Amino acid sequence: MNEMAQPKPAAAGYFSPRRIGHVNLYISEYEPSLRFYRDVVGLCDGWTRPAIGGGFLNNGATHHDIGFIPWNSSVTRKKADGPGLNHLAFELEDEVDLVRGYERAKAAGTTFQTTDHLVAWSIYSFDPHGNGIEIYADSGLSFADADFQKLKRASVPWSPGAQPPSSDKRYVKDHRPHRDDKTLFHATKLTGAVLVSDAFEAARDYYVQTVGLQPIVAGRDFVCLGGTLGGRDVSIFRAKPAAPSLFHHMHFSVFDEVDLAQSIAKAGSYGVVVEREIDHPRRRGAVVKSPDGARVLLYVDRANDAAGLGRLAPEEAIWLA
Ligand SMILES: [Fe+2]
Repeated sequence: MNEMAQPKPAAAGYFSPRRIGHVNLYISEYEPSLRFYRDVVGLCDGWTRPAIGGGFLNNGATHHDIGFIPWNSSVTRKKADGPGLNHLAFELEDEVDLVRGYERAKAAGTTFQTTDHLVAWSIYSFDPHGNGIEIYADSGLSFADADFQKLKRASVPWSPGAQPPSSDKRYVKDHRPHRDDKTLFHATKLTGAVLVSDAFEAARDYYVQTVGLQPIVAGRDFVCLGGTLGGRDVSIFRAKPAAPSLFHHMHFSVFDEVDLAQSIAKAGSYGVVVEREIDHPRRRGAVVKSPDGARVLLYVDRANDAAGLGRLAPEEAIWLA
């Protein structure tokens, strides 16, 4: 660990997330997006909503690793001006952590929208860049459950704490990813999101103090933050004049390196361009772009020591975070 550069949060976070649960994107077109995340990335179609152009795809680790909705939909939580990041979502242990954290954050002045999505209780706010943040606890219901499929509405109003919150651990405890030979890549689960920020300290402090992630490693001009499972769930890199604030990419683990090499070799036959290949002592990876230009890194780690990552230049570390 790079002790000198280690950020010092002013307070413990309001929540204690286990991990990043999903990324939700604003998209321009439903069918090309569905094909990309299903047939190229290799996620399963959990619950698609053609009528509203929305999709929710997963590979068994949670109800969805990726959600998407048209950027100009009438049901968006904030006005979007085009495709891009809608929100990052963080999975908690249970509803108790959600309700207690909500009450503490609210008392400190953070405002939230609250929703019962039936698969999860969720609260929503915004990071210093206006990126949506969702913090949720699973209910134990799945999109695949017959009870869910029969529902006419997938969300209902929710008042945190109106009922005594449950301490049941209802997240997926036995992740068995599915592998479909027909898809190009075989993502096992979402493992993180990488942000570039021109308000680096404010963004870092927000994810530490409000969301409750903890610093895993801090390098020169970057920090990797993780939940209680110890992953690098959100990495933040300081913006430079030539690299302004943005949602840089999201990353997914795949089954193994042999599988990944075969996917890269087959990309051309799927009409997919591998924008960047990573063949580094720390990681083998491939970056592909969604129809709207969202970067997806599919990877297998070869070395995973946080201290070694902290010594790298940010330009190199951004693909290894
Ligand atoms: Fe979400």
